[in-house]
Amino acid sequence: HKNGLQVAIDGPASAGKSTVAKRVAKQFNYIYCDTGAMYRAITLKTIRAGISLDNAKEISAIVKNSKITFAPDDNGQKVFIDGDEITQDIRSEEVTNSVSAVAAIADVRQQLSAQQQAIAEDGGIVMDGRDIGTAVLPDAEVKIFLVASVEERARRRYKENIQKGINTPLEELQLEIEARDYKDSHRKVSPLTKAADAQEIDTTALTIDQVVSEIAKVIKNQLNIN
Ligand code: CDP
Ligand code: CDP
Repeated sequence: HKNGLQVAIDGPASAGKSTVAKRVAKQFNYIYCDTGAMYRAITLKTIRAGISLDNAKEISAIVKNSKITFAPDDNGQKVFIDGDEITQDIRSEEVTNSVSAVAAIADVRQQLSAQQQAIAEDGGIVMDGRDIGTAVLPDAEVKIFLVASVEERARRRYKENIQKGINTPLEELQLEIEARDYKDSHRKVSPLTKAADAQEIDTTALTIDQVVSEIAKVIKNQLNIN
């Protein structure tokens, strides 16, 4: 592609996708695109509009009539919908617990996937999500599937929450993660699954630096640099 490779990073909740994807993008001077933020943005707007999570028709209309944009930031990126910043708001418990229902709507996926494909068209991009290597960018030159034990993923989210002053019990976080993984893996349209040609990295016992350097190795290999 004109601007470099397409790097797809998929995996279940809290496997470290966005943390690692941001770092990898920085290292190669690539764009970073958090597709989960797009599903979260639509979910937030749906909740704010008082629309029921099973109203596929109205939610599809929301996607059609919304503009989701990103702006680079020191900590990654800011997220906007229709010009309003929603970077923090899309991380709420309510959005987190509702997003899988919205993401299961076929027309929502079709529209957001098309937007994601347009963003990635020229390459030079690291895109993270659930279906990037399987559905959005099936020809991506680099495909990574990050996994980690659910206990470790719950601990990671717990630590993150504590830093934000939120104290949800660890067991509750684990149940939330399991419920979301189940829904994401069992929906009809482009469920969370590892692409046949993706490289799986189990991050349970790895540091962020170790994961980043593993992925950087794969990219350099593909670019033929060492
Ligand atoms: O909480 P976490 O960072 O793991 O999730 P996220 O990447 O922000 O994604 C939130 C939700 O959006 C997921 O649980 C999926 O339901 C949905 N999603 C999706 O269906 N497809 C994508 N490519 C990205 C996210
Ligand atoms: O995007 P996704 O939901 O897959 O995960 P994340 O929000 O990037 O990462 C969840 C948390 O795990 C973050 O607080 C990271 O600092 C931490 N973490 C990690 O991402 N990778 C490791 N190898 C170890 C910890």
